[in-house]
Formats: sequence, structure tokens, C-alpha cells
Amino acid sequence: MDKISDSLMKKIDFTRLPNHVAFIMDGNGRWAKKRGLPRVLGHREGIKNAVSVVEGLVQLKIKNGTLYAFSTENWARPKDEVSALMNIFRENFILKKDLLIENGVKLRLLGEYREFPEDIVKSIDEMIEVTKNNKNLELAIALNYGSRQEIIRVVKKIIEDGTKPEEVDIDLISRNMYSAGMPDPDLLIRTSGEFRISNFLLWQVAYTEFYITEKYWPQFKADDLAEAVIWFQARERRFGGLSGK
Ligand code: IPE
Ligand code: IPE
Ligand code: MG
Repeated sequence: MDKISDSLMKKIDFTRLPNHVAFIMDGNGRWAKKRGLPRVLGHREGIKNAVSVVEGLVQLKIKNGTLYAFSTENWARPKDEVSALMNIFRENFILKKDLLIENGVKLRLLGEYREFPEDIVKSIDEMIEVTKNNKNLELAIALNYGSRQEIIRVVKKIIEDGTKPEEVDIDLISRNMYSAGMPDPDLLIRTSGEFRISNFLLWQVAYTEFYITEKYWPQFKADDLAEAVIWFQARERRFGGLSGK
């Protein structure tokens, strides 16, 4: 298990933890390219980090996490890369069940993951079922996820439900999102130095703090998560109001 070092653990204020940390796991391809390796090996290495980060979230007792694993736009990549990614998801949704059970992690999915190959959908649904009573961490995986598509889906749903215009408010929209019931992310971490949102949680990040690190995703470990949380705890969040100072 990749544990957070004691010196970093001491710097964390456990009374002011973020409720929800979301991750744009970016830079697998560049990590591999820099080492003269095929991009696919970067994706394989990236999965190990997802494991470290999940363990880190559990160690910090953070209650909600979201990992952006495959966007609706990622279908535009070469066929070979998409099918390699499918194989990696396939293996990991079968093999990582114990990790979730041992750490008390409840799985949920954001996005149209049901458009993935049938065997992957089946193993995801099994994992959702076996982890449904876990209480340490609710982990959302955004798979075949696009935020604009999510918003369109909500609009269609509320029209179909016969919602009246005066009934439309922030709460109604939130309740109809894939993320229904999850707190909005307090902290969003993007690796590999890109300052963009790439169609991720547009509605939910209205007041999220953004942490961008130059590290590629395969280099981002539990200690890096702790550093990001320490950075977050030094931020002054105003939510449009004025500071108390
Ligand atoms: C993120 O790494 C993983 C997915 C989008 C599936 P990338 O594959 O985007 O890596 P870079 O950005 O090309 O380095
Ligand atoms: C965002 O990364 C999607 C995931 C991490 C799954 P991308 O690599 O697809 O984003 P862009 O293309 O650089 O914006
Ligand atoms: Mg990328």
C-alpha cells in the first residue's frame, strides 16, 4: 500500500478536509513517450496511480472521490488506443474488486458506461452491487462521461417528467445529474500541467478550487494527494461573499 508519509500527515488539518476531491487523470501518454514507451504502457502505469490515490483518500478519511477515466471525446483516439483502454478497464474492473472491499469503498459511475462492451458493463454492475454498503469512501468513476452531454440529459429528463418552468432550480438540476446526492467537488486536481476542464463536471465545479500539477498522472502518488490537500487548506474560499478578515 502506498501510504502518505508521516511528515505530511502531520501537516493536515483533519477538521477541514475537502468532502470531495475530483481528478482529471491526464498525461499517461506523455509519461510513456518521454520514456520511449508505447502510450498503452502509460495507461497501464496510470492505473497503479488510481490505486494509490484511492488508498490515499481512504487514509485521509475523505468521503467522496471522482476519477475521470474516459471522456465522450476520447472515442476520437486511434482505434488501437481505444481498444487497449477497453482491455485495461476490463482487467481492472475484475481485478480491483478486493481493493474496494478491503478499503470499504462504494463504487458509482458517472456517464454512459453502458455503451461500453457488455462484459465490462457486467463487471462494473457487479462491483457496484458488492460495494453498495461500503461507507469509508464513495468513489465515482467517470466513464464515457461528458459534462455537456450530462446537462443535455438532465434537460431532456425534466421535460419528459413534465416539470413546470417555476419548478426548475439548482436543486432540481443537481438531483437529475449523474452525480445526484454527491457533494460538489471542493478540490479538483489535474495532472500534466494543462489548465483546462475538458468537459468534466461543468455544473458541479462552480466553486471548486483547482489544483494543477506538472506531474504526469503516472507520477502522482498518495503523497502528492496529501500536498494538494495541504494547499487546499490554505485557500480562502469566499463563494462570492467577502472574507471574514
Ligand atoms: C489520460 O492520459 C488518460 C485518458 C484520457 C484515458 P492521456 O492519454 O490523455 O495522456 P496525454 O495527455 O496524451 O499525455
Ligand atoms: C481528459 O483528458 C479526459 C480524461 C482524463 C479521461 P484528455 O487528454 O482527453 O483532455 P484534452 O484532450 O487534453 O483536453
Ligand atoms: Mg491527455
